Amino acid sequence: MRIDIITVLPQLLESPFAASIMQRAQDKGLAAIHVHNLRDYADNKHRNVDDYQYGGGAGMVMSVEPISKAIEKLKAERTYDEIIYMTPDGAVLDQAMCNQLSLKQNIIILCGHYKGVDQRIRDLYITKEISIGSYVLSGGELAAAIVVDAVVRLIPGVLNDETSALTDSFQDNLLAPPVYTRPPEFMGMKVPEVLLSGNPKDVAAWREAQAYERTKDRRPDLLED
Ligand code: ADE
Repeated sequence: MRIDIITVLPQLLESPFAASIMQRAQDKGLAAIHVHNLRDYADNKHRNVDDYQYGGGAGMVMSVEPISKAIEKLKAERTYDEIIYMTPDGAVLDQAMCNQLSLKQNIIILCGHYKGVDQRIRDLYITKEISIGSYVLSGGELAAAIVVDAVVRLIPGVLNDETSALTDSFQDNLLAPPVYTRPPEFMGMKVPEVLLSGNPKDVAAWREAQAYERTKDRRPDLLED
């Protein structure tokens, strides 16, 4: 999978992909993440990529020309399955969306800033608008990093134990059950007996019941679907 990210702050996207699972996915050739500085596509002297909004009001708007140039250049090189715009007014990211995106070959992610991008960019190019939650960040970069992390770990071969993505929270509309490791007793608190029993059937039944209880308690909305 190839992911091209267009941003005015490429430095914000250096560390999230340079460690652990994201780095390993790239080392294995399973994900190629390319970060593009939008200012490289501005043809004015000061490399400005924003302007005052028509109609007045506080806040700058990201201009059409540099974004269009960046997207057109990428589109001339390959076909993209999705051109995503990170914005608080997009559809809220969930595991189903991540599962779908992990099946794509090439995607572009455009990070918004200031008051956002000129609407014509959204009308012309954007195929999907994603929010990571009902709050406003300073820009789309951290949101884009979250989308990339959540999607890339689902690409087959990225996780060592492929089944571990299948047992994540949300994969079956249930939160994950509690987990324990050694020691078997800490400050008088014991690991549930069933997990020490060595009986896989009992363990599976306990985990399923715990997952259901936890979901009912914390995220009853997931059970309504
Ligand atoms: N840009 C600013 N806030 C955002 C959010 N909540 N989700 C996605 N992109 C954003």
